[in-house]
Amino acid sequence: MLFSFTIDGQTCQYETGTDIARETISGSSNSYFITGKNIESKYGKVLGLPKESTLIIDDGESAKSLESYGRVMSWLMENGAGRNSTLAYIGGGTVGDLAGFVASTFKRGMNLVAIPTTFLSMIDSSIGGKNGINLNGVKNMAGTFLNPSRIVADTSFIKDNTPLIMAGLPEAIKHGFIKDRWIIDKLDKNNFEDPGFLEEFIIHNARIKAEICSLDPYDTLGTRSLLNFGHTVGHWIESSSKNRINHGEAVMMGMFMESTVTSAMGLTENTVPEKIRLLGEKLGIPTKIPDSIIVTDLTHMEYDKKINGDDIYLPVVTSPGNSKIVRMKLKDLKSQIEKAMVG
Ligand SMILES: NC(=O)c1ccc[n+]([C@@H]2O[C@H](COP(=O)([O-])OP(=O)(O)OC[C@H]3O[C@@H](n4cnc5c(N)ncnc54)[C@H](O)[C@@H]3O)[C@@H](O)[C@H]2O)c1
Repeated sequence: MLFSFTIDGQTCQYETGTDIARETISGSSNSYFITGKNIESKYGKVLGLPKESTLIIDDGESAKSLESYGRVMSWLMENGAGRNSTLAYIGGGTVGDLAGFVASTFKRGMNLVAIPTTFLSMIDSSIGGKNGINLNGVKNMAGTFLNPSRIVADTSFIKDNTPLIMAGLPEAIKHGFIKDRWIIDKLDKNNFEDPGFLEEFIIHNARIKAEICSLDPYDTLGTRSLLNFGHTVGHWIESSSKNRINHGEAVMMGMFMESTVTSAMGLTENTVPEKIRLLGEKLGIPTKIPDSIIVTDLTHMEYDKKINGDDIYLPVVTSPGNSKIVRMKLKDLKSQIEKAMVG
């Protein structure tokens, strides 16, 4: 399945299917590949990565370090990469964030191709052009925008890996509630073992992310904030739990809490929080914020980038599949959350 989209004049071809990564790699010319250790050891042989033009880097969050960045830049230099070369990554959001940053800065920019290997990276992080590395323990402190010219989402990486799909599902649920009811309805009867279903599901999600990003290419117009549904409260849960609650679960709890609050304010159809709770129950993703999270400690919310002075721009789901941005007083949101937590 194929579709293409354009963000700020840069066209990207998005493709999903089974066993399509190998042919993408073998059909590339003047290309340099980076991948993580886990992917190389699990899929290196099947993918046929050319030894002379492949660099294997650390996996996970440590890929997004200044050290990895320097290593990839030096390797490209030593191996004669130029402005007309392509940097292709095979990996999840971490390897992708690093690759995007390298590709946008090496000789002031080279072509980027994404071969995402996690469900999250297929439906979210490979799309929209954001990239970056972490500095001094702070996430995404250095980064730019660069859209890949091609994204190849090969379902063979994820089809038998339930935890990888589960980790990305909250973002898919988010896409469904903000813009595409089809996603919510299909989640009720999901069958991720069916490759045809998985491809269709991936395409629906990729289209939503691409559509929203194309309206706000550099995250300056407010439209991209819709993708933050569940994340305002979610980030606070993640930080308050000292990351014991993972990102996906925190977003799920965040969507439930934010929709409960906006429903009490009359902004959201009151079926929405219950739908989120039931989906969480069905899929085994918790929606209730644990009692160990301190109700009054909402300080982390002050650092949310969607906050402007005393006001916050909150993405609000009005009904399943529909949403808008609402400006409200931060103190009102906080007091509603406190009320909802006690109730
Ligand atoms: N740029 C964006 O727009 C954007 C959006 C969302 C998240 N992100 C970033 O994405 C990162 C998270 O990415 P992620 O969730 O894809 O995880 P990840 O890249 O951290 O990968 C998680 C683990 O899974 C392994 N892995 C990857 N693919 C695998 C496969 N097919 N089979 C087995 N193991 C596999 C990796 O080696 C790693 O150990 C974060 O750094 C986050 O900040 C970026």
